Amino acid sequence: MAISVNLSAIITALGGRHAIQQLLNVGPSAISNYLTRGHLPERAKPIIYAALTKKGYQIRADDLEILAGPPATSSQPLHSDTHFGKRILLIVAGGIAAYKALETARQLQQLGAHVTGVMTDGAKQFITPLSLAALTGEKCYDSLFSLTDEAEMGHIRLARSADLVLVVPATANFMARANAGIADDLATTILLATTAKVAMAPAMNPAMWAHVATKHNFASLRQRGVHMIGPVSGDTACGEEGEGRMCEPADIAAAAMQLITPQNIPNAKDHAKSPLAGKRIIVTSGPTIEPIDKVRFIANRSSGKQGHAIAASLASRGADVILISGPVNEPAPDQVTMVQVTTANEMLAACKAALPADIAICAAAVADWRVQSVSDQKLKKPEDPDAGMMLALCQNPDILAHISSASNRPKLVIGFAAETENLLQNATKKRQRKGCDWIIANQVGGDADPVFGSALNQAMLISANGVDEWPQMQKTDLAETLADHIEAELTR
Ligand code: PMT
Repeated sequence: MAISVNLSAIITALGGRHAIQQLLNVGPSAISNYLTRGHLPERAKPIIYAALTKKGYQIRADDLEILAGPPATSSQPLHSDTHFGKRILLIVAGGIAAYKALETARQLQQLGAHVTGVMTDGAKQFITPLSLAALTGEKCYDSLFSLTDEAEMGHIRLARSADLVLVVPATANFMARANAGIADDLATTILLATTAKVAMAPAMNPAMWAHVATKHNFASLRQRGVHMIGPVSGDTACGEEGEGRMCEPADIAAAAMQLITPQNIPNAKDHAKSPLAGKRIIVTSGPTIEPIDKVRFIANRSSGKQGHAIAASLASRGADVILISGPVNEPAPDQVTMVQVTTANEMLAACKAALPADIAICAAAVADWRVQSVSDQKLKKPEDPDAGMMLALCQNPDILAHISSASNRPKLVIGFAAETENLLQNATKKRQRKGCDWIIANQVGGDADPVFGSALNQAMLISANGVDEWPQMQKTDLAETLADHIEAELTR
């Protein structure tokens, strides 16, 4: 259903078309359509009403007619601080602490965020979608199979439109489903589809919190890059005292905003003015693993130390880092969005999904080949002890070359070259062949220092402007050196 409105007046009152686009989370063409038809979709009504009222306008509720402008003293902008425009998808799961999600939404709005609610069926046993929608001024989504919702927004777009997906409360059941990758409702599907940061505020009975299954799910989600806010010790709703109590809404809101506000990230303080702040950067790291059969695979010795150190350094300078990594033992650095993959094809798909980006850095040791036809059973050894074994291999896609030639190519694309001989010549050719701007060349495979797996590295930066040789240093220091060079490039 659509409602007839004087959209031009509303656009002027709310500060322009862009402000309405952000409020309704639609593109410029949608606004043009609304203007042509003089109609707004029904779902927009409470959002626009709330926004205009917040600005101090008197509005007629049924057709959004502006009856009077804001009083002279009411000059408060819709979002008055540095968090303007940050979008938080607030997922409410089904626990007694769900009522605190309402207060969390309010606190987030006071900090300047746009909040859109998503509720599980369980959450609706405790609070209603209407209460969350009324509070946020945005539609509250609760169904994966709603034709109207899919037509208006679509769950993938909903998942991708957020700067942060925040789960309040994260119940034991919700964490278990999220950890297992189950996507049987809108909330869990969003978690799988989003490329935004994800944070959860766990809340449950102390015995449930202490259970080994919950501990496992919590640790595993955190390892994957989910930011955990709490829980804390204290009285829980079931009358028991102990760990498992959800953090207070104000604390959850503050922690959530910190995650999406570069200058508020503790490590980023020294780099508050970094030109990297807010830049979207894809970093690949670790090896890829290519299956041969059910139990065997082709792999390499990359530990992920170098790629992860680069991701950590950039994130500490306020960049919005998406770290796409093959299987490694390195923990996910703080403040990065972690995407775990296994094969080269999966890494390529994750990189494509993460584009567009401002910068891409490919530090992963991607397997050049994969087995042409993977056996779904364990391959049997021939009876004849002298018989050899042939595996037909085919080439994997070149992820760096793909990013370098993408239509939405990042402004700066940086590759690595791991060479065992003729470092400068081979790496220079590689830069040209793969079409990247810079290549970081490191000599690998030495007996004393193989680089792969080591804490140390020695490299040279090769660009169109020449070669910059760096001394041997810790991989963490090399990451800082590279970040310094990128900062310098961005300010040139
Ligand atoms: O992980 P560590 O143990 O800390 O070790 C760090 C490192 C040695 C892995 C790292 O410093 C490094 O050199 N990474 C690149 C390793 C590599 O595969 O280099 P290459 O010369 O084969 O590939 C050149 C570039 O193309 C790399 O940026 C690579 O990510 C990329 N590539 C390669 C093949 C492929 N199919 N797709 C790609 O994108």
